[in-house]
Amino acid sequence: MDHQQAVPSHLEGEIGEVLISSAELQAKLDELGKRVAADYDGRDLLLVGVLKGAFVVMADFARRLDSEVSVDFMAVSSYGSSTRSSGVVRILKDLDTDIEGRHVLIVEDIVDSGLTLDWLLRNLRSRRPASLEVLALLTKPAARKIDVPIRYEGFAIDDRFVVGYGLDLAERYRNLPFIGVLTDKAQAAARAAR
Ligand code: IMP
Ligand code: MG
Repeated sequence: MDHQQAVPSHLEGEIGEVLISSAELQAKLDELGKRVAADYDGRDLLLVGVLKGAFVVMADFARRLDSEVSVDFMAVSSYGSSTRSSGVVRILKDLDTDIEGRHVLIVEDIVDSGLTLDWLLRNLRSRRPASLEVLALLTKPAARKIDVPIRYEGFAIDDRFVVGYGLDLAERYRNLPFIGVLTDKAQAAARAAR
């Protein structure tokens, strides 16, 4: 992968490595956009983003599609520590849209254990959409605790905590245009601050 992108100077010492550059992310979204456009072949599509992390990938991905597309968001909170989810999920903000009979594509930033997504799939399936698929920009196969069907996958990464491009640690780093890996020192500091 391309490691040329510079880490902003105020984050030196916190972000050890640029794992996926902005150019690589954009190229992957071009590719996924073409696949989704071909598969749905002009059918109306409802993109469902999971807040907050998916807001960046949603904005960039939605603009690759030139068919009839609507966008909605859900906010969920998973009980557990700030870096591990438990699979016990609470809806903080539900969809505004009734999805019965709609073609729904969930847009996720990252699938880690899969517990959040598994819960979300079961919840949305019960609302009887015409179809329900998942796009995940990042997945961590080694961290998976439950098998979840991901139709469109961006990058499979190692089981390391990453930030940027929507992903946070304690609400920081979401605005970075690349995916970066936190240094051990930054992760330890975040743990100590909790
Ligand atoms: P899961 O339920 O374990 O699959 O976790 C899903 C959620 O945990 C994601 O939507 C993220 O909000 C968060 N998450 C998991 N791994 C990371 C990471 O490496 N960096 C930042 N957030 C993460
Ligand atoms: Mg998060």
